Amino acid sequence: MPFGLVSTWNKRRRSKSLEQADPWTYKPVKLWQLEDQSLQTSKRRNGSSVFTLKEMEEATSSFDDAKLVGKGGFGRVYKGNLRSGQAVAIKKMELPPFKEADGEQEFRVEVDILSRLDHPNLVSLIGYCADGKQRFLVYEYLPNGNLQDHLNGIGDSKMDWPSRLRVAIGAAKGLAYLHSGTAVGIPIIHRDFKSTNVLLTADFEAKISDFGLAKLMPKGQEMCETARMLGTFGYFDPEYTSTGKLTLQSDVYAFGVVLLELLTGRRAVDLNQGPNDQNLVLQVRNLLNSRKKLRKIMDPDLTQNSYTLESIAMYANLASRCVRPESSERPSMGECVKELHLISFINSKGLGLAVNKRI
Ligand SMILES: Nc1ncnc2c1ncn2[C@@H]1O[C@H](COP(=O)(O)OP(=O)(O)OP(=O)(O)O)[C@@H](O)[C@H]1O
Ligand SMILES: [Mg+2]
Repeated sequence: MPFGLVSTWNKRRRSKSLEQADPWTYKPVKLWQLEDQSLQTSKRRNGSSVFTLKEMEEATSSFDDAKLVGKGGFGRVYKGNLRSGQAVAIKKMELPPFKEADGEQEFRVEVDILSRLDHPNLVSLIGYCADGKQRFLVYEYLPNGNLQDHLNGIGDSKMDWPSRLRVAIGAAKGLAYLHSGTAVGIPIIHRDFKSTNVLLTADFEAKISDFGLAKLMPKGQEMCETARMLGTFGYFDPEYTSTGKLTLQSDVYAFGVVLLELLTGRRAVDLNQGPNDQNLVLQVRNLLNSRKKLRKIMDPDLTQNSYTLESIAMYANLASRCVRPESSERPSMGECVKELHLISFINSKGLGLAVNKRI
């Protein structure tokens, strides 16, 4: 059953048999104490680390603005250094005031599950701090920030086509891993996949962040802020918007939007454009399967000798299938991984390059 982070919160509670099979179900004490050996991964045999508020303050020089690296829908993110010397990103979660004191144990259980996900294309969730009303998530620190900044803004050197393909493949692999359910026994829907949640390592490898984050917020949050409900405008699966049904294919839609951002260098939503040109998918959807029209929408900053038109055409075709309005007509993430590998191979071959072994 394709659920995972889908809004099974209530359903879970209703179904006894499902409860037994579902590792997201709140099981006081036992789960985060790792008495269930089957849920252990090789990464952290002792589960997620638990930090004190003092450690969070020390790591960030008391949340000094100079250490702020960004702000999103769930709170502020600071760069920090743990006592061990490890660089981390600390997300200070903003909870709605009426929910601040709730859910500490559920928070712990669910962070612990997320911290067991272990894949080279997912940002590692190292641990958490739950102190009184405050909640923090501690992630590995990614030095090259997020993909969106690299596509439209910071830095003089624009990413060439092979680097963009490598990022697309990495992100696709990360999502395919979440969807496969191999780590925690059920498929996990990211819910908020987008270019600011694709972070880049020092070598510009992609790692997905914030998987499962929507799940960690108390239920009331959904009603507090509609824009945050289950994702971000510009990436919403139209089927979800019309039916309220969130599926793994909702992530595929959002992935298709990121593919389009990589191809065009444009934003998913650009409020600086006229009313008909603000939404990237609507703007380019009908142009993706014509080679002639494709030239008009390709990122003008793409290094000319880094791509073949053949690979661009195949890529655009894949992107157009990912953003199909009907979720059943979209490919799976596993299929996306395979196709992107082929596209990268065709590109390298067309340019007479050695086939890239890193991907
Ligand atoms: N682990 C990390 N390492 C380095 N930088 C990070 C890390 N996590 C987040 N950031 C930076 O902080 C910024 C804000 O992140 P945050 O997740 O709060 O917001 P967002 O991704 O824009 O939106 P959302 O809340 O929907 O995820 C990111 O865009 C990224 O540049
Ligand atoms: Mg984020």
